[in-house]
Amino acid sequence: MKKKVAIGVLVSGSGSNLQSIIDQIEAGNLDAVIYVVISNVASAFALERAQKHNIPAVLIDHRDFETREDFEQKLIDVLNSYSVELVVMAGFMRVLTPLFIKTFHHRIMNIHPALLPSFQGIHAQERAFAYGVKFSGCTVHFADDGVDTGPIIIQSVVPVFDDDTADTLQQRILREEHRIFPQAIQFYAEGKLEIVDRKVRIRDHTSIDDTPIHNPPLTRY
Ligand code: GAR
Repeated sequence: MKKKVAIGVLVSGSGSNLQSIIDQIEAGNLDAVIYVVISNVASAFALERAQKHNIPAVLIDHRDFETREDFEQKLIDVLNSYSVELVVMAGFMRVLTPLFIKTFHHRIMNIHPALLPSFQGIHAQERAFAYGVKFSGCTVHFADDGVDTGPIIIQSVVPVFDDDTADTLQQRILREEHRIFPQAIQFYAEGKLEIVDRKVRIRDHTSIDDTPIHNPPLTRY
């Protein structure tokens, strides 16, 4: 039997990314087990999603702690109590301090709804849309102690159309998030990720074609 990576998922909201991970595990496409889901927000729908799949769902409200480190120490204690190897931040809206990052060094993945390093931080999709970019997308990366700055594992690019709204763009990006996050976790589970300096190499994996894309399409040249 294949080894399954023990993951803990940190959430703050709807949990559609959590759902995509659960679905891929249940479909047998992802060699992982979710040992615990932790939310810092009591009303997060992600907690209900976890419970529905009999996954321990824990609320740790950051407002109950005096310092960020106290909050994170509680997260660490709970994750360790479930023997979590890989921490997966799936819409977790708290910035982490070096305490947490060091504890799970190169064992924390985050998903961000933009092509990093563009549009780091919150409301990335709305800001990319307002900026007028022709492409946007999403990024899975290892977390470091900056905001959305860690080594990039995988990115997906989506076009922006003239008749898009911030909402339609957000939906297009989210559909891709649901594809690349399980894939990044599977690369980890297979032991394929290698971090050299700040670059992530994926062992034994084919490269994409050398084909530029343009938006709008070129009419000449
Ligand atoms: C996702 O779009 C995720 O990329 C984003 O929050 C959303 C959570 O959705 N995360 C960030 O912006 C982190 N900086 P979900 O709760 O439905 O997975």
